[in-house]
Amino acid sequence: MITYHEQERIFKLDTPNTSYLIGIVDEENFIGHIYYGKRLRDADVSYLMRTEEAPFVPSGNNRERCSFYDCFPFEYPAGGTGDCRESCLGVRTAGGHAGAMLSYVSYEILEGKPGLAGLPATFGTAEECATLKLLCEDKYVGMQVELLYTVFQDVDVVTRSAKIINIGKEPFYLTKVFSACLDMDNRDYDMITLNGAWGRERHIQRKTLGYGIQNVGSIRGESSHQEHPFLALVDKNTSQESGEVYAMNFVYSGNFRAQAEVSQFDYVRMSMGIHPENFCWKLEAEESFQAPEVVLVYTDKGLDAMTNTLHKLYRKHLIRGEYRNKKRPILINNWEATYFDFDTEKLLSIAREASSLGIEMLVMDDGWFGRRNQDDCALGDWQVNEEKLKGGLKYLVDEVNKLGMKFGIWFEPEMISPDSDLYRKHPDWALAVPGRPAAQARQQYVLDLSRKEVADCVYEMVAAVLRSANIEYVKWDMNRPLTDIGSLGLPADRQGEICHRFMLAVYEMQERLTKEFPHLLLENCSSGGARFDPGMLYYSPQIWCSDDTDAIERLEIQEGTAMLYPLSTMGAHVSDCPNHAIGRVTPFETRGLVALAGTFGYELDVTRIPEDDRKMIPEQVALYHKYNDLIREGDYYRIASYSQNHKFDCWQVVDEEKKESLVTFVQVMSRANFKSRRILLKELAEEARYEVRFVNDEKIQPKVYSGDALMKAGILVPELHGDFRARLIHLTALD
Ligand code: GLA
Repeated sequence: MITYHEQERIFKLDTPNTSYLIGIVDEENFIGHIYYGKRLRDADVSYLMRTEEAPFVPSGNNRERCSFYDCFPFEYPAGGTGDCRESCLGVRTAGGHAGAMLSYVSYEILEGKPGLAGLPATFGTAEECATLKLLCEDKYVGMQVELLYTVFQDVDVVTRSAKIINIGKEPFYLTKVFSACLDMDNRDYDMITLNGAWGRERHIQRKTLGYGIQNVGSIRGESSHQEHPFLALVDKNTSQESGEVYAMNFVYSGNFRAQAEVSQFDYVRMSMGIHPENFCWKLEAEESFQAPEVVLVYTDKGLDAMTNTLHKLYRKHLIRGEYRNKKRPILINNWEATYFDFDTEKLLSIAREASSLGIEMLVMDDGWFGRRNQDDCALGDWQVNEEKLKGGLKYLVDEVNKLGMKFGIWFEPEMISPDSDLYRKHPDWALAVPGRPAAQARQQYVLDLSRKEVADCVYEMVAAVLRSANIEYVKWDMNRPLTDIGSLGLPADRQGEICHRFMLAVYEMQERLTKEFPHLLLENCSSGGARFDPGMLYYSPQIWCSDDTDAIERLEIQEGTAMLYPLSTMGAHVSDCPNHAIGRVTPFETRGLVALAGTFGYELDVTRIPEDDRKMIPEQVALYHKYNDLIREGDYYRIASYSQNHKFDCWQVVDEEKKESLVTFVQVMSRANFKSRRILLKELAEEARYEVRFVNDEKIQPKVYSGDALMKAGILVPELHGDFRARLIHLTALD
């Protein structure tokens, strides 16, 4: 609900359990941030903006305009006029001068939520959400800014974005456009971020927030393996179950910065937006620039509550398409099975064996096109290699379909190999700075998708393949960062637009793809998990989590990923051992139970794995069918974290009605002479009685306990003999 208190000039935005307050101050109409936190009855807590304290507002004390700017809690601070904390908006006029200050002009309250042109964003109906549009301006620059705030009725989220409009006659340049800012008092917060590397994506990092600027970001042209478009400030005592959390998550997949700055007065400014490095956007008269969306979550109920809020938002208000609430076909991908060394017969032999075990889809990965027999050529030549695929693609797909399986295929549409027919024909289609040889990564260049003819040509090649056979799944990959950012399609003063234009083109291509092929299951991927973000989730309901499929490494990767994103989005497969990324050997059963927490599939040569492993596949398939609805749709709770305790990992899902729950327990290293481990379960119905069954340990007889006892006294998981062993425990309410 959104209300405007005219007398006090305060906007009050309420979600079921939170309030967000904005105040218009002084005759100069500054837009101040008053409050974000637990839901308030009162609207007027405007004293929190401290305009009654020295240095007062400029109209009352023009001598100290600068000091006022430098401590006032701005909703959307612009730089260069006196607020010397880091701003959200950088403007340079045609004359080369920097600086802006926004003042309030008018507002509108809309039912529902308008889309953001060309960008992924959360959505909701008129019953589900309402939107405040605040119009503000800087009359000296000739600029208007529309600040958008949406509140949801069914989930404690506020989303924000900003649109900059040139209402003057001259062009100006945007040198920085962030999407959201929160100015608050610092209450000794900790800062939580997700950090990593290839094969080690999204590990959780928590550290003390200190004075000055602390940030994470990406200038790689993708949200990246290394840092993540997410930031949370939490109380020192915040745990999974209790404590305050302020979180921001960016619905964007390109360069970003997420930042917290603690200033001289112990105020904290938390902000998020497109990374300003090498960003410069020219706005001609009447043109506008739409910044992507930031999702804000506040809770005083700890990290589990933040997680479930984000999961619910993304499941209901971000992910689209027919698969969003549906079980995904269990797939087998041939990448780790064959790498580039495959042909029709090899793929069919894998498919035959896989289908007899209950696997439902064959995915043909990299290597089916052009002369691509290794990773140094042919990206861009999206025509089937009929020497490898004798009889053509349609024949292969039809044969796979005859086995009762679906067929999926891999593309890397954003790239071009120097050794490709496409590059020989269009060497100017790769991003490059004239006069400097562009850097190769994985022996490839990035296509200049900011040029429409390039994006259209690649789209047509991809679509032609998809139109040629019954292809029901696409893995859309992206295997190198953007460097050498130069385009022949743009003038000198627009070269700073390339990275964002590149992202807009990728979004447009995926939008076209999902419109033209509405039944397609799209899975995004980027060298594993370098583009696992809410932006991509708008187009694909699942994303490949990491190229590291080792069950133990996956514990930390999946813990960090699931802290923000629903389990239904996490691409997770069972692969062969020794693991190709890390060389570790783990039990096949454990690999299955860890992959079950995601989309579930296989990444191995099923004709060549040990017989005992193969025999386990039908059982794993049955577990998937039995429990996937619960895993996909249930609430997710973190019970224990191996990355923190270095001993064991444990997570739980519970259905909305609390009738059913599934607990996965993984013991990492076994120990001699150790007794069972006690774990406390969460969010069951206190008064209900649950039958507790150890699914993969028939020696333990099912027993019945109350929800109350299971949460307060817990259950005992017997010591498991051997390293890397896992237990699956299923609870069913009896009453
Ligand atoms: C990336 C992906 C892998 C695989 C290869 C193919 O690394 O993450 O799963 O598709 O590309 O080249």
